[in-house]
Amino acid sequence: MSSQDPTADVLGRIDRERESYLATLIEYLEIPSISTDPAHAGDVRRCALWLEERMRAAGLEARVINTGHHPMVYGEWLGRPGAPTVLFYGHYDVQPADPLEEWRHPPFTPTLEGDQLVARGATDDKGQSLAHLLAVGAMLAERGELPVNVKFLVEGEEESGGGSIERFVREDRGQTLRADCVVVSDSSMFAPGQPSLLYGLKGLLYLELKIRGPARDLHSGTYGGAVANPLNALAHILASLRDPATGRVLVDGFYDDVRPLEDWERREFGALPFDEAAYAREIGVSALAGEHGYTTLERAWARPTLDVNGIWGGYRGPGAKTVLPASGGAKLSMRLVPDQDPQKIAAAVTAHLERAAPVAVSIEVEVLSATGPVLIEVEGPFVEAATEALADTWGAQPVRVREGGSIPIVATFAEVLQVPVLLMGFGLADDRLHSPNEKFDIPHFYNGIRTIARLLDRIAQPPEAG
Ligand code: BES
Ligand code: MN
Ligand code: MN
Repeated sequence: MSSQDPTADVLGRIDRERESYLATLIEYLEIPSISTDPAHAGDVRRCALWLEERMRAAGLEARVINTGHHPMVYGEWLGRPGAPTVLFYGHYDVQPADPLEEWRHPPFTPTLEGDQLVARGATDDKGQSLAHLLAVGAMLAERGELPVNVKFLVEGEEESGGGSIERFVREDRGQTLRADCVVVSDSSMFAPGQPSLLYGLKGLLYLELKIRGPARDLHSGTYGGAVANPLNALAHILASLRDPATGRVLVDGFYDDVRPLEDWERREFGALPFDEAAYAREIGVSALAGEHGYTTLERAWARPTLDVNGIWGGYRGPGAKTVLPASGGAKLSMRLVPDQDPQKIAAAVTAHLERAAPVAVSIEVEVLSATGPVLIEVEGPFVEAATEALADTWGAQPVRVREGGSIPIVATFAEVLQVPVLLMGFGLADDRLHSPNEKFDIPHFYNGIRTIARLLDRIAQPPEAG
């Protein structure tokens, strides 16, 4: 891009400010804003206040919005009446850091390893969403104004399934949040240097299954064989959920509302340069597995899944203890695709679990989290603006991708605001989100900032108008 680049002024400033942006990101990552852990509630709040301060420093009017739980941070600059308004969404909360002993550096002491900044929250989502704010700050500092209006809504409960933002967005009904498009950077690019437009996220149904047998733990010799063992029953129930031969989920009705992959999706996913062997190697498995009839990308992006996330009960200490445990349990996640309905699937799975349980045990199923899937239209002027901003910054045309993860509020934004949502992630597939040694690629951080700056200019100046 030459001097004709309308964003050249801001891009120059971004280059000069790189060191200070990195320092700001490091400060952000030092705050252990773990939303699921009540012991960190004070840190979560401190993080919200830090962000509010950074929004003000960037030139926004900002405020912390208190909720019944963790606060949200809202900021806006509305100095261009009549111009489009862009709503940026992100989350400042992070996952717990455990297992701690697997980190190469303390998780909240951000450490550079070459170009990679290692810290909890580096890619998910502090680094990615800070890029939005830094781009806006650079523009305001360089020009004293923006080409469009902007709003920021950054929440502190995304990682713990909190419902505060959902209530806020629904009650607000597009007043405070009225916008012409929403921008979210909380996902990955398909490959290093390969910009990607994400158009599908899975939904999530998360269940806890509790199983009970005798009123107390029993001697496994005295009572074994005469009493139903809740853990034997649990193993049987869990095994009944999936067919090991085909990888299919065996719950009646599970696939009823699944929208099949379109031909163009199978074609485009199939054309992506995906290295199965490298993928398997990076996660440390000797072979990949899944539903028959689908490729790895199709399974991960567009087919529903059912997985045991945790399982407990009985004796787990050193040595042998002969015991029939009185109780046990498991946590199950189902990743849902359009048009599966989390409530309907919850009812179907609960009915299956109850049918599969032997009469001599009792089970209890609790829904811990239920989020719908999303598929977004990948066309229109905002998508074109994003495509150009990505292509100009990264020097490659973006590819269209789906993902297996969930960002619960995205479906609500699309439904309530009725505007396009641009899901433009700057992470990498090996960023280890939710895992030890999470990291963010710093060149991607800077390019993320550049992309957002270009996006705002491009939204303000569609080529046909200027
Ligand atoms: N940023 C992720 C979602 C994501 C992951 C999108 C990978 C695209 C690719 C988000 O922070 C996340 O972890 N979501 C949770 C949602 C849950 C806690 C309700 C998830 O997907 O498990
Ligand atoms: Mn995230
Ligand atoms: Mn996450």
